Amino acid sequence: VIELVETPQALREALGRVRAKGGRVGLVPTMGALHEGHRALLAAAAATCDATVVSVFVNPLQFDDAEDLARYPRSLESDLRLAEAAGACLCFAPEVATMYPAGRPQVVVDPGRLALELEGASRPGHFLGVATVVTKLLAMAAPDAVFFGEKDYQQLVIVRRLVADLSFSAQVVGVETVREPDGLAMSSRNQHLSPRARAAAPVLYQALDAGRRELQGGGTVSAAARAMAAAFLDAPLVELDYAVVRDASDLGEVHDGLPTGELRLLVAAKVGGVRLIDNLGFSR
Ligand code: PAF
Repeated sequence: VIELVETPQALREALGRVRAKGGRVGLVPTMGALHEGHRALLAAAAATCDATVVSVFVNPLQFDDAEDLARYPRSLESDLRLAEAAGACLCFAPEVATMYPAGRPQVVVDPGRLALELEGASRPGHFLGVATVVTKLLAMAAPDAVFFGEKDYQQLVIVRRLVADLSFSAQVVGVETVREPDGLAMSSRNQHLSPRARAAAPVLYQALDAGRRELQGGGTVSAAARAMAAAFLDAPLVELDYAVVRDASDLGEVHDGLPTGELRLLVAAKVGGVRLIDNLGFSR
């Protein structure tokens, strides 16, 4: 059965027992409200690690909007059941006062330029909060591997850079997005969609698919971006934030006619007031 620990000390003790036997530790950081996307992360960890730790912590430092933080879904009991079934042996679920005993920490992790655009542009301070809590979790669990969903692609790129720049030894593993049958990417935020908004929400995936088809057909990066934006034009309840094609490794801008490489198509939109994001890869 899964063991629940609430302090860094208890976490270190439990992991010490795994390490004493030479076991490989995998960490899956989450904010709870676990769904099929998290199950895929946990399964990827369990398949390659001797001990899979899931952390469940709704990190106040990464919310710029108090209302968004207050209404973030919380469901530790069902999270424990899902995590256990997916192969986790340990759940680290600290209180806010355990993670941030002095309130907002004085020392934080600045994730740099990439944190200011795309998601960072509409959520000031968000990636600083993510980078800070991920750094703390890596320090507490010292995992051999850490698992993140590709759904939050910018977060994944930032974490890869964080691990490299701050010399953590964990291997960062990105896990493919899990989708509903109609293409909608699994997200805890989908719970907030009204029935009409839920019906409109697959437009994000449809836009990405239109962009990818444009590239597959030999279209330029800017034609693909236009195809994505066009998919949103007649969508009800939807307010497009961005639809872009970027370099997959660092999310740098790419221009038409540049050499081949891995690209990432990314979109963000509000659907019935709920902010959703999604992305797809493409190799030129
Ligand atoms: O992706 C998330 O759920 C969060 O941003 C993370 C990585 C758990 C940090 O709080």
